Amino acid sequence: MSDLALRGGQKAVTINYSEVGARAVVSEAEIEAAVELMRKGQISSSPLVQDFEAKFAEYIGTKYALASTSGTCAINEALFAVGVGPGDEVLVPSYTFWASAAPIIAAHGVPVFCDVDPDTYCIDPVDIKRRLTPRTKAIMVVHVWGNPANMDAILEIARENGIAVIEDASHAHGSEWNGKKIGSLGDVACFSLQGSKVMAAGEGGVLTTNNREYYERAIALGHYERLSGLPKDSKYRKYSLTGLGFKHRTHPIGIAIASKQLDELEERNYIRDTNGKYLEEGLKDIDCIKIQKVLPKGKRIYSYHYTIYDETKLQGVSLITFLSALKAEGVICGKCGYGRLHEAPLFTEGVPYGKGCPGKCSHVEAPMVDKVPSLPVTEYLRDNTFMLAPRFEEPCEDLIDQYIEAYHKVVANIDELKEYENENKDAKVSTTETGRSINLI
Ligand SMILES: Cc1ncc(COP(=O)(O)O)c(C=O)c1O
Repeated sequence: MSDLALRGGQKAVTINYSEVGARAVVSEAEIEAAVELMRKGQISSSPLVQDFEAKFAEYIGTKYALASTSGTCAINEALFAVGVGPGDEVLVPSYTFWASAAPIIAAHGVPVFCDVDPDTYCIDPVDIKRRLTPRTKAIMVVHVWGNPANMDAILEIARENGIAVIEDASHAHGSEWNGKKIGSLGDVACFSLQGSKVMAAGEGGVLTTNNREYYERAIALGHYERLSGLPKDSKYRKYSLTGLGFKHRTHPIGIAIASKQLDELEERNYIRDTNGKYLEEGLKDIDCIKIQKVLPKGKRIYSYHYTIYDETKLQGVSLITFLSALKAEGVICGKCGYGRLHEAPLFTEGVPYGKGCPGKCSHVEAPMVDKVPSLPVTEYLRDNTFMLAPRFEEPCEDLIDQYIEAYHKVVANIDELKEYENENKDAKVSTTETGRSINLI
């Protein structure tokens, strides 16, 4: 009998993740907090939202925090806050979720896709410099998978060129750069509180900033009910009757849940980080896995655990075979969906918002920007990054030990992997042909 579970052997992972490694999506204390609001009838507006904002701003270290309906809405607010408008270019990575880039189109701006650093997977300052033009208005920095981007280099470029820095901190609640919380370094930052995040309201978002003008503009865009409460000298009070056409008021029940999670965030991050590091330590002798690098000034949180698979270090065994073998062993893992935005029709063809098509992306021939080169690192990461493990939310060394054993077992059985690959050539071909392997295993 073969050793690999893929070929009929025993599974390496026998401990049930949901029983020992996961946490309840909503804890009892969070349910209590939500029910309390319902009992009070505060299901649309509640003072709890502003209390949460004050607490979140204090945690991140900014003057202001503004809760909204989603991280996407917070990004729309941030772009509006810094004044992105028709024809303005915003540098943004393609190795991210669509919400980092699509709102640039909604603001009638031009997303200019930038390559990422091959070690951190975050936007590459060298490539930022290459793609600057007189029309560059902002840089959208994504601290991807909770890993801080090189903020020193990015802020220096931004300062030298008079452009704004927006942090998409949707994966980085509690990450730090040089001792400061991510979300406090750029001009404005956005957090997602969607259900899969380390702070989850179900749906929700938060914008943070130290800049009063940006804060008021964010309020103006989506929070008409708050405009009359702005200081008398605010330029935006006059819009209190109408707002600006969007409504981003957050759901207080979600915020009641998120507020409880904020109280526990540091403790939970500590557990996740201890587990993430323990797993990485156990895998460090495996050549075909290249762990996402944290820069010396960065402190990451393990909100998601993605890394590079280098098939050249495993005699050309494809990622799809590697993942199939791991899954058979009981490892929760999967292909990564990031790194494809620059190929998406929204950006390659543009979208007709009214007359003309200002949102055409500069990655292809575009009316406003010269043709730019491809994104080699992004495309490498698109094809080779994968989810190493789920988020380990509880101390669970025994389970992580089984994951470490599973990875070692798989890489020790190259001949069997190759045999399997030969027998399943079609799966490999279809992956390569379509370039869309995400849902194939
Ligand atoms: C990197 C990134 N940016 C933005 C968002 C958007 O957040 P939301 O889903 O709350 O709109 C997400 C959420 O998945 C994300 O992962």
